[in-house]
Amino acid sequence: MPTNYQSLGLTNTKDMLKNALEGSYAVPGFNFNNMEQLQAIVMACAETKSPVILQVSKGAREYANQNLLRHMAAGAVAYAKELTQNQGIPIALHLDHGDSLELCQSCVDQGFSSVMIDGSHLSYEDNIALTKQVVNYAHQHDVTVEGELGVLSGIEDEVEADKSVYTKPEDVVDFTQKTGVDSLAISIGTSHGANKFKPEQCERNQDGVLLPPPLRFDILEAIEQQIPNFPIVLHGSSSVPQGLVTTINNNGGDLRDAVGIPEDQLRKAAKLAVCKINIDSDGRLAMTAAIRKVFNNQPAEFDPRKYLGPARESLKELYIHKIKKVLNSENKAS
Ligand code: G3H
Ligand code: 13P
Ligand code: ZN
Repeated sequence: MPTNYQSLGLTNTKDMLKNALEGSYAVPGFNFNNMEQLQAIVMACAETKSPVILQVSKGAREYANQNLLRHMAAGAVAYAKELTQNQGIPIALHLDHGDSLELCQSCVDQGFSSVMIDGSHLSYEDNIALTKQVVNYAHQHDVTVEGELGVLSGIEDEVEADKSVYTKPEDVVDFTQKTGVDSLAISIGTSHGANKFKPEQCERNQDGVLLPPPLRFDILEAIEQQIPNFPIVLHGSSSVPQGLVTTINNNGGDLRDAVGIPEDQLRKAAKLAVCKINIDSDGRLAMTAAIRKVFNNQPAEFDPRKYLGPARESLKELYIHKIKKVLNSENKAS
């Protein structure tokens, strides 16, 4: 018997994205794989009264188990209510980078309220055909669908692309009309992971810190002109805070040339048509930095709560920062 997302207390992304577009802010798309990440997301979003899109990749679903994840999302709704004197916040459960119709259908049946079908590595025609099939199924269940046009460099789940291919503004009207997607992920220079640009693509400041090339706002603006008031999604939007990278490397890590998207560029995008911003790697860095610190400073510690607890606290701080200072989604929960 398929599970309806409403029965889990979840919401789809339709109103969330519409409100974000109208209010010139972006809803966070935060990825999670385990309890501490989910707790940190819910604590941060409840405290700041921000709507949130909980993202589960194909790999995360395999890692954590589909049944468990569904119940964790329902638990997140209850936990957010507990933290907000029963008011709650809008919470969507979203499949990140779905790569097949079957996976998207299974997520819809399991209670996801939103799915992404990432056909960006296919030919334009095949991307349309696959995305349309997913939309047809998802919309029968009131589940919203995110499609993608253009290729981000870096790793997208199991698919790795060397070079990014910017979204062509001349394709977006045709793609959105033919597929019926509810939102569109685009490629304007962001990429996945903690090494978003090669050092040779960057300048360096006097301290040797890498300064990445700016995002292609000209492409974003051209897309916006083609499809005004259509919700745009930005993947690969971690900023790779250098303080976290230093903490990791000072405590036994070895991250080289790690560089992300500067926050001022994300702030600017959130004020434009970008109304969902995906962040995963920064959370991974925050968690790893906190755990490495405990392991390095207290080598005799072996209670997981003693290192996962600080990791959760550091994650929560990071998410609150993103909500208040980058996405501007604070107090947008109603
Ligand atoms: O876009 C990719 C996300 O960061 C998910 O990564 O496939 O390793 O879970 P993952
Ligand atoms: P980051 O790797 O920049 O966090 O991007 C995450 C993402 O796009 C998830 O879909
Ligand atoms: Zn992504």
